[in-house]
Amino acid sequence: MTDDPDLNAAYALQTPEDSKQLYARWAASYDVGFASATGYILHMQVASLFAEHRGTGPVLDVGAGTGLCGAALTAQGITPVDATDISPEMLEIERGKSVYRNLFTGDILHGLDVPRDTYAGVVSSGTFTTGHVGPKALDEVMRVVRPGGRITLSINTEHYAVQGFAAKLSFLEPDIQDLTLTDVPIYGPDTTGDHAKDRARVASWIKR
Ligand SMILES: C[S@@+](CC[C@H](N)C(=O)[O-])C[C@H]1O[C@@H](n2cnc3c(N)ncnc32)[C@H](O)[C@@H]1O
Repeated sequence: MTDDPDLNAAYALQTPEDSKQLYARWAASYDVGFASATGYILHMQVASLFAEHRGTGPVLDVGAGTGLCGAALTAQGITPVDATDISPEMLEIERGKSVYRNLFTGDILHGLDVPRDTYAGVVSSGTFTTGHVGPKALDEVMRVVRPGGRITLSINTEHYAVQGFAAKLSFLEPDIQDLTLTDVPIYGPDTTGDHAKDRARVASWIKR
């Protein structure tokens, strides 16, 4: 038994302040105690879909956490990648991996300290999920991407339905093109437990 947070605690979050507190406690054990132990593969799927859609750098990884998605992108030859996250403790773990060009704290729900049209791409894995970030954050994602830039992010499928992501994407339709929605497992086939079969919808589109 450990006192480390787990997925049930993460899904029970309600506010950005809750996220800061939980991820401050989870940062040190996240990679081994959560990602490896649960067979988490979502970051790899987001990176692969971004690459398949011919996404290019510079990329911003939103809710980058300990840097798993950035490492997967870099492994596919997509660079440079910057990281932002609400949790300075998660970013500190990333810093040790030297995957990212720049790392900065920020709350995607309240706006990032980034000029409009900065990035050629945005990725995000595991952050648009229950208790975390809802559809409102897509406005800020759209703001920081250049026209012609590619956005690829995972949205937990239950969260997608409950929080109205379909309506938000319809609302954004005049400003986006080439939208695809790909349903993927969040965990590998050997994973067991309550959330083993949870899925995410990876939304990918170009900003007009
Ligand atoms: C489940 S982790 C995913 C981390 C990483 N992307 C991955 O795939 O392993 C969710 C991340 O979202 C971050 N987060 C939660 N709310 C946020 C917000 N409002 N703005 C930016 N990051 C946020 C958390 O600090 C945490 O690092």
